[in-house]
Amino acid sequence: MKKFGIGIIGCGTIMSVHLDSIHEYDGVELIMVCDIDSGLAKSVAQEERCLWVTDYKEVLTNENVDIVHILTPHYLHASMAIEALKMGKHVVLEKPVGINLKELEELKEIASETGLTVGVTLQNRFNPTTIKMKELIGSGKLGKLIASKGILTWCRKGEYYSDSTWRGKLATEGGGLLINQGIHTLDLMEYIGGPIKKIKGHIANYSHPDIEVEDTAMMTMEYENGAIGNFYGTNSYGDNSPIEMEFIFEKGQLQLRDRQLILVKNKKSELVIADILKEGNKSYWGMSHKLIIKDIYDSIKNKTNPKVSLEDGIRATQLVLLCYQ
Ligand SMILES: NC(=O)c1ccc[n+]([C@@H]2O[C@H](COP(=O)([O-])OP(=O)(O)OC[C@H]3O[C@@H](n4cnc5c(N)ncnc54)[C@H](O)[C@@H]3O)[C@@H](O)[C@H]2O)c1
Repeated sequence: MKKFGIGIIGCGTIMSVHLDSIHEYDGVELIMVCDIDSGLAKSVAQEERCLWVTDYKEVLTNENVDIVHILTPHYLHASMAIEALKMGKHVVLEKPVGINLKELEELKEIASETGLTVGVTLQNRFNPTTIKMKELIGSGKLGKLIASKGILTWCRKGEYYSDSTWRGKLATEGGGLLINQGIHTLDLMEYIGGPIKKIKGHIANYSHPDIEVEDTAMMTMEYENGAIGNFYGTNSYGDNSPIEMEFIFEKGQLQLRDRQLILVKNKKSELVIADILKEGNKSYWGMSHKLIIKDIYDSIKNKTNPKVSLEDGIRATQLVLLCYQ
């Protein structure tokens, strides 16, 4: 069977994770990479033995490319995905789907017209802890959600923004902590907790004077069933601390900290997933890229829907954009 041809647009930090996924999947072949930084594109192409270009339109017009990975700054995501679909390409799209509600709608419309796949890398939905939480909730033994919380305390120093042409600027990043780091936690608060009806709170910039966007956010959300959720996130912590989440149900609680998941039931705590961070393995947060990309490729191959749909990606992005309103 012919392999699917892959084109990558954007050869920055996240690309290596996508390359690993491409290398490990039997049915795909990297055809070309693209970056406006010609030196970068050329060096990746030499390593990967593929073509390189600096104009993404050449990726979209290449007849051997079937699937395009869009790994560019946020403001380019939706428009590049729309163009890719119009050129008949499937898309693997890094989060967020876009930076305003209008472009999310446009992308949704084109995707539905073309019937092509757009998979969005909300990879934390594939973490073993997430899958286990879904399973426990699905069993019906925990009952109704009462409260949830998500806490993100990470460290992004000044250089993280100053070394980048697009981070820290509203026009190109579309926001700060929430749209870049917080989107995964907010997505899981809804994916695990259920539909969110309202979300509001405060965003602030406490310790990054040179950027336009927020480094800290506090949000309160009301779920459709009346439960209340609280999110706190900051890029101003002294280190990258594991994500912590808690979901309190009528008949039990789920407590997540990185690779550990605790179920509290009948006044007893049980370590449901007891994995600990060892040398050589990574925090769960961010390690499920290969699983989600494999699922997107499988869905294209088998003409089925990916487990995380474009609608899921749009919804997570909408949640973030609602926080900014
Ligand atoms: N899913 C995750 O957990 C996760 C983690 C990290 C980054 N990301 C996302 O991946 C995307 C890229 O992030 P990054 O950290 O790799 O950024 P980066 O700045 O390191 O890389 C972006 C690359 O895109 C290139 N680029 C910019 N405009 C271009 C254009 N018009 N055509 C071709 N190339 C262009 C830049 O030159 C740069 O090399 C972002 O959307 C980010 O949010 C996701």
